[in-house]
Amino acid sequence: MTEKNKEMDKGAVFEKITARKKELAGKVLILAHHYQQEDVYQFADFTGDSLKLARQAAEADSEYIIFCGVHFMAESADVLTSAKQAVILPDLNAGCPMADMATVEEVESAWHELTEVCGDQKIIPVTYVNSSARIKAFVGTHGGAVCTSSNAERVLSWALSQGDKVFFFPDEHLGRNSSKALGIDDEEIVLWRRGERFGANSDEKLKNAKTILWQGYCHVHQEFSADLVRRWREKVTGIQVIIHPESPFEAVAAADMYGSTEDIIAAVRDAAPGTSWAIGTEVNLVNRLKAQYPDKNIHLLADTACTCNTMSCITPANLLWVLDNLAAGKVVNQITVERETAAGSKLALDRMLEI
Ligand code: 13P
Ligand code: SF4
Repeated sequence: MTEKNKEMDKGAVFEKITARKKELAGKVLILAHHYQQEDVYQFADFTGDSLKLARQAAEADSEYIIFCGVHFMAESADVLTSAKQAVILPDLNAGCPMADMATVEEVESAWHELTEVCGDQKIIPVTYVNSSARIKAFVGTHGGAVCTSSNAERVLSWALSQGDKVFFFPDEHLGRNSSKALGIDDEEIVLWRRGERFGANSDEKLKNAKTILWQGYCHVHQEFSADLVRRWREKVTGIQVIIHPESPFEAVAAADMYGSTEDIIAAVRDAAPGTSWAIGTEVNLVNRLKAQYPDKNIHLLADTACTCNTMSCITPANLLWVLDNLAAGKVVNQITVERETAAGSKLALDRMLEI
């Protein structure tokens, strides 16, 4: 059926989605992340960054939630919704390579090594929402919390008030940017190299650390550098640079401001007409802002593609396929988190929503 939808003319697919949405009104809620392509984004009932979408899912009462985002987001939605609701991901290949950089087996083994060295200290785990439900469950059952790019500093600060140090995964950059923003010294921020015993750190280094960062990254945001920021400043006088905190610290430090996708949207929306912006985040969001604010001079920070290929797996064709099946009484591509994992994961997500 997806094949048939793929071959169909784009206009015809759009018309069918609109008709199915009307037919299923009240039963189906479509959520879309800001990195979705316009062809999908236009059909969303709600759009948002990871935090906003998690809240939307938690508050939703629709029977079916179609998540136009990536796998970890749909998992969080499943954990936060009731057992009577079904969360659907239109393409199961829509994962997050960064989330995949920390498996629960790797994290458990690292935790074991860390507690061997720092047994007399209290370690609080914190995971970025870009992680599997199993990682979130590990964090939840070890007294920690989830964070997103819009609350990472707040969650980190809470975690440090609960213990002696924080083990942060899977994004090194978000962990470093948040640690630096809280004024933690460089010597107290330690990188845990994946696959190496004690993360390739000495006992002393681990004992003195305030934050220990897992060596994971997002290939889209890894592209941004202080050099690109400098080049834009040379090229356009008065340009303001805003960047997502999944970017390396040097790039974030060189920018004028940083924040989640929702923060980036707000900064550009509230800026005066005629202002110039270089934006360091995924290209679909930057292109949307360009189209929405033609009175502002908006550029992508890098000259490379900056596309999240997994977000792009969601298409109008597979969205229609899901809707067609729901209209026929069939749920396809449901994301279900196993009960015990969901309970642990919910602890970590609820802690975040409370902080
Ligand atoms: P936010 O929308 O929370 O800023 O996250 C960006 C992201 O990479 C989602 O995968
Ligand atoms: Fe993962 Fe990066 Fe894509 Fe976000 S943009 S889903 S972090 S790969």
